[in-house]
Amino acid sequence: MTLITGAERGMGFVEAKTLAQHGQFVFIGAYDMELGQKAVKELQDQGLDVALLHCDITDQQNIDDAIKTVNDKFGYLNILINNAGIPGPQDALPTKSTVEELRKTFDTNFFGTYAMTRAAVPLLKKASYGKIITITSDMGSLGLATDPKSMFSHIISFPYQASKTALNAMTVAFSRNSEMLSLMLRLTRLTLV
Ligand SMILES: NC(=O)c1ccc[n+]([C@@H]2O[C@H](COP(=O)([O-])OP(=O)(O)OC[C@H]3O[C@@H](n4cnc5c(N)ncnc54)[C@H](OP(=O)(O)O)[C@@H]3O)[C@@H](O)[C@H]2O)c1
Repeated sequence: MTLITGAERGMGFVEAKTLAQHGQFVFIGAYDMELGQKAVKELQDQGLDVALLHCDITDQQNIDDAIKTVNDKFGYLNILINNAGIPGPQDALPTKSTVEELRKTFDTNFFGTYAMTRAAVPLLKKASYGKIITITSDMGSLGLATDPKSMFSHIISFPYQASKTALNAMTVAFSRNSEMLSLMLRLTRLTLV
């Protein structure tokens, strides 16, 4: 049984559909409930086993309610996919960025993902196996950012890059500090068809 954040559209939706097609029960963690209802209906109409879960990862009460719903229904969680994220301002040089832009991007991409993961740990531990899959980005790689041969050394979206670097650190930290598997999916660019 899987919970995916930000699954009402984009990659999260595709991840939900793919896992459900392989027999997983999937909670569609939705930030936008109207889109979430549409997404759930589309998948249920295809005979897939999915349910809607309101999930704003910047709202601790909302996270706690979502985890309680999963606990009440199943008592455990096999896989948490931390997919929710925001791009932040584009072409944002560090000299032009503002603290507010950084805080806003970090609130979702880092603090929100950490809060969600932290809250899900007890349920993941109750599963026979527990996996945390965190969608980060090549844009968060310090190795690529400092490699002149890499295209990522030329891209500057400072708030997004910094938030994904922090997320990489979080993913590694969880992999060292829990009985669960913590994996990082470092994507370059994905075109959805
Ligand atoms: N697409 C790429 O090329 C690419 C490359 C590398 C990494 N990634 C990463 O992959 C993930 C998905 O990307 P995507 O392209 O599918 O993005 P997307 O289409 O913008 O989807 C992101 C999802 O996260 C949701 N979200 C935003 N704020 C949230 C919050 N506070 N709580 C819960 N959900 C929230 C969005 O909801 P709303 O629709 O309501 O805003 C949306 O459903 C992101 O973490 C992104 O950084 C993407």
